[in-house]
Amino acid sequence: MATLANKIILIIGGSSGIGFGVAEASLKSFAKTVIIASSNKERVEKAVKRLTGAKLGGGEIIGRVVNAGNEESIKGLLDDVGEVDHIIFTSGRLETTLAFPGWILIKLKTTTVEISFLFKDSLDLRLWGVVAVAKHAKIRSGGSLTLTSGTLAIKPAPTLSVAIAGAGALHTLTSGLAVDLAPIRVNIICSGAKEKLLKQFSAFKVDTELWDDLPPSYKESFLKDTTKKLLVGHLGQPDEVRF
Ligand SMILES: NC(=O)c1ccc[n+]([C@@H]2O[C@H](COP(=O)([O-])OP(=O)(O)OC[C@H]3O[C@@H](n4cnc5c(N)ncnc54)[C@H](OP(=O)(O)O)[C@@H]3O)[C@@H](O)[C@H]2O)c1
Repeated sequence: MATLANKIILIIGGSSGIGFGVAEASLKSFAKTVIIASSNKERVEKAVKRLTGAKLGGGEIIGRVVNAGNEESIKGLLDDVGEVDHIIFTSGRLETTLAFPGWILIKLKTTTVEISFLFKDSLDLRLWGVVAVAKHAKIRSGGSLTLTSGTLAIKPAPTLSVAIAGAGALHTLTSGLAVDLAPIRVNIICSGAKEKLLKQFSAFKVDTELWDDLPPSYKESFLKDTTKKLLVGHLGQPDEVRF
């Protein structure tokens, strides 16, 4: 069975959720070094402590602080860590948070050019952050860059055209980078959505800290309603996401 022995894995967004799950899986697969990076120093330290305490595989665990929405910060991180084998980019925030109530930012009928700067923050992080990584990363031969998204760009949901456009940009960026970085592999994971699920037009939501940005009253009903629509009958856990 292939393992990650001797491999260096960098997870940008690794302090929680899917990224943290990838860090655990990489250590279990005997990665030599796992570097987790995100913007909040305390969260990074806490995640490193959790990974170290779990004693998985014996690989080295390193934490770094980075603002993935800022090219200089990304460049600093990548210069600092040097050559790596695999990079996984999971940094993101619920861009709608600032526009509650009503998701006004991304809904077609309520979005405006004036508030589009809020959406720009999200694109700076999830789109331009990835561009900066692709520009400055030193990925070894045989390595990969893996991005994360949801399923909106594949299965558009009503009223969310603006968010769908952002998600679509990330998908087409993936195709472009696959050409530009070849033979380095570039892929995008859409929150564990599987072909069977996509046929049924159901996204596979993963139960992570991402949803903590929702107002508590809304979060509960949103996740409850979402779960009802999932074929698997439960919110996914990070270790169910297969890279
Ligand atoms: N979970 C799902 O079902 C789902 C569905 C659709 C799309 N997605 C997308 O998949 C990706 C991963 O989601 P997740 O569920 O794992 O979310 P999560 O648990 O909230 O993880 C997001 C990570 O991004 C980091 N982050 C946020 N802002 C950052 C910044 N400026 N610079 C660097 N790191 C930053 C966070 O750490 P810090 O706070 O320490 O910075 C955290 O480690 C996100 O892009 C999300 O939008 C997930």
